[in-house]
Amino acid sequence: MQSKNKLRNATITAVGMYVPPKVLDNKYFEQIVDTNDEWIVTRTGIKERRVIEDGATSDLAARACEDLFKTTSVKPEEIDCIIVATVTPDMFFPATACLVQNKIGAKNAWGFDLSAACSGFLFALKTGASLIEGGTYKKVLVVGADKMSAITDYTDRNTCILFGDAASAVLLEPTENLEEGIVDQILHIDGSGKEALYMKAGGSLNPATHETVDKKMHYIYQDGKAVFKVAVKGMADVSYEIMQKNGLTGDDVAYLVPHQANLRIIDATAERMGVSKDKVMININKYGNTTAATIPMCLTEYYRAGKVKKGDNLILAAFGAGWTWGSIYLKWSME
Ligand code: COA
Repeated sequence: MQSKNKLRNATITAVGMYVPPKVLDNKYFEQIVDTNDEWIVTRTGIKERRVIEDGATSDLAARACEDLFKTTSVKPEEIDCIIVATVTPDMFFPATACLVQNKIGAKNAWGFDLSAACSGFLFALKTGASLIEGGTYKKVLVVGADKMSAITDYTDRNTCILFGDAASAVLLEPTENLEEGIVDQILHIDGSGKEALYMKAGGSLNPATHETVDKKMHYIYQDGKAVFKVAVKGMADVSYEIMQKNGLTGDDVAYLVPHQANLRIIDATAERMGVSKDKVMININKYGNTTAATIPMCLTEYYRAGKVKKGDNLILAAFGAGWTWGSIYLKWSME
């Protein structure tokens, strides 16, 4: 829904992505933990995921940006701001955005990291859009990047089969057409979910010690069942709500672009929205859950495959640790 005093919208004018070449398929996990391909595929929809062997999150992010710059006349030095959504920054500080700025040569940019787990890209997209809507900035790079393998315990079958490494980036620029670009959003946080999905140590609450390492507190901890329940409800409700708010029916929506955590959560969201399965962007089978990267990677792959057209109504939806969740209504404006 348009706010009445808006002068411009932010819209996506270029996309890019990077996945590392090394593939871990389900057969690999059969050799290292007590699991099997059939369980993984039926319970999650994942067939394989990628892991980076030669770098950190900023490398994934910089390569995604470089891929984006191959497709646009915009040069890195024209970028005003870089927002990197990630829960696996190279270091606590400096921000990964600084490292990416340096790697891609965006010498006139400022920027920062944004931590919202699997909702990170949605929150960063809205943040970037607001910078543009305000009129001060004209070219904002929004990047979702995570090296989940850095915080994955490969002896824990509950979590290790789920995650992968990847990055993806979009360029936001202004448009005076208030009907296109980032049209509307509903975003939420609720810290009561903090113990269902988190990394127990390494922060100021439990600084790293021999004990935290011995107790494996530097890995993802997840209560899968608890997360599943709230994720299904949260993502389905917020996606339905944004459609209602903007007078959209399932027929008006070209694609649901959901965070890729579990195919069953995605199916439940699509069903609640009245959107048929052929209108749901999916890549979880190839990459697993890549946290902040899943949604922009879907956009990049489907756009490059010619499946997304100018004027398409897209509903982006995510749910993640925090809790964080939300939905964005985006009208695609690229030819
Ligand atoms: N292979 C085989 N069995 C496995 C397994 C694996 N990789 N992982 C777990 N299991 C077992 C469990 O130990 C459990 O066995 P038990 O009943 O003997 O204890 C059984 O499978 C069922 O576990 P459960 O947790 O009920 O499975 P599930 O159907 O809920 O699927 C998840 C597990 C993690 C796939 C699912 O809960 C999920 O996707 N949760 C939400 C994930 C999410 O959205 N996370 C991030 C938000 S961004």
